[in-house]
Amino acid sequence: MTVRWGIVGPGRIARKVAADFAHVPDAEVVAVASRSKERAEAFAAEVGAGTVHDTYRGIVEDPDVDVLYIATPHPLHRAVALAGLRAGKALLVEKAFTVSPEATREIAALAAERGLFVMEAMWTRFQPAIVRMRELVAEGAIGDVMAVQADLGAQQPSSPDDRFYNPALGGGALFDLSVYPISFAQMVLGNPESVTVHGYMVEEGVDVEEAILLGYPEGRSATLFASLRCQSPGMARVVGTGGWMEVPPRFHHPSRLLVHRNGHEPEELHLPPTGAGYSHEIAEVTEGVKAGLAESAVMPLAETVAVQDIMGQVADQLGMAVAEGPADLEQ
Ligand SMILES: NC(=O)c1ccc[n+]([C@@H]2O[C@H](COP(=O)([O-])OP(=O)(O)OC[C@H]3O[C@@H](n4cnc5c(N)ncnc54)[C@H](OP(=O)(O)O)[C@@H]3O)[C@@H](O)[C@H]2O)c1
Repeated sequence: MTVRWGIVGPGRIARKVAADFAHVPDAEVVAVASRSKERAEAFAAEVGAGTVHDTYRGIVEDPDVDVLYIATPHPLHRAVALAGLRAGKALLVEKAFTVSPEATREIAALAAERGLFVMEAMWTRFQPAIVRMRELVAEGAIGDVMAVQADLGAQQPSSPDDRFYNPALGGGALFDLSVYPISFAQMVLGNPESVTVHGYMVEEGVDVEEAILLGYPEGRSATLFASLRCQSPGMARVVGTGGWMEVPPRFHHPSRLLVHRNGHEPEELHLPPTGAGYSHEIAEVTEGVKAGLAESAVMPLAETVAVQDIMGQVADQLGMAVAEGPADLEQ
């Protein structure tokens, strides 16, 4: 069985993800949708999709599409996701899943009601080096995990035309970058009992930088940093009572893992991703849909909700007025 995919929003990430379909058996991009006919046609020609839609409603209602990959700016995920679920589609939704925890819960509830496979495109969790890191943690290779440290700084264009500095398009470091260290910490340590942030908001009403401290029982912690104005290494470390592991830059799509067991020489594992690293999340959804599953065991919706709850607390503490998008498509 070939799982037929439709891509919504032919922007920067859609182009990269589309290229990785070549590495996934049984997955095919059959349709694309843009708000502009010209952009849809150009993108379809580039990715080899046979069907072009010049409205998002068109692809949502296309009976020959099984899965929608939603690659629009984060506040606009909600309308496509809810309309897609009502039309019976499975979904792969870009990070940040939404900009409000309420909208994530709304989508998760509808997915459960309809029994449709829905997953956040948190590609980090599917990278071979991260999969191995989680196995090693579970085997006790570094003892009891006490701390996570992670940073992700990416200097982005400050033009108001770009989504990065536009609050209506979910701009700011939080939803674009902090989502990665937060999701990494949530994956390793679970849901925190406290969230503390120190950050900086600019006049556009978006956060450009923040340091986040997540607190866990028995002194466990995650110290996280993200920035839209500084290029930082993008490293992650997991520290335990028996040693530590380092995920070298960029930790959100690594090809190596360093394992330091106390009293031993460090071990370096080379575990590169297939393609640009998006193939693994495409395969997870494709296999899940073929098997009739409701969600991924690696990136379950409850954990996406937990990450959104942390981001919601960060946004509140920073005084960010988060603008969630509409619940339905305009046309
Ligand atoms: N996983 C990753 O590595 C990764 C990397 C970058 C971004 N992302 C995520 O992917 C999503 C898209 O990011 P991107 O950088 O690809 O964005 P982008 O280049 O700005 O593209 C977004 C696309 O959304 C569509 N869109 C619909 N309504 C829009 C509006 N009001 N304003 C602007 N565009 C609108 C546009 O396509 P049409 O107008 O043609 O329909 C546009 O091409 C975000 O949620 C982002 O966090 C993920």
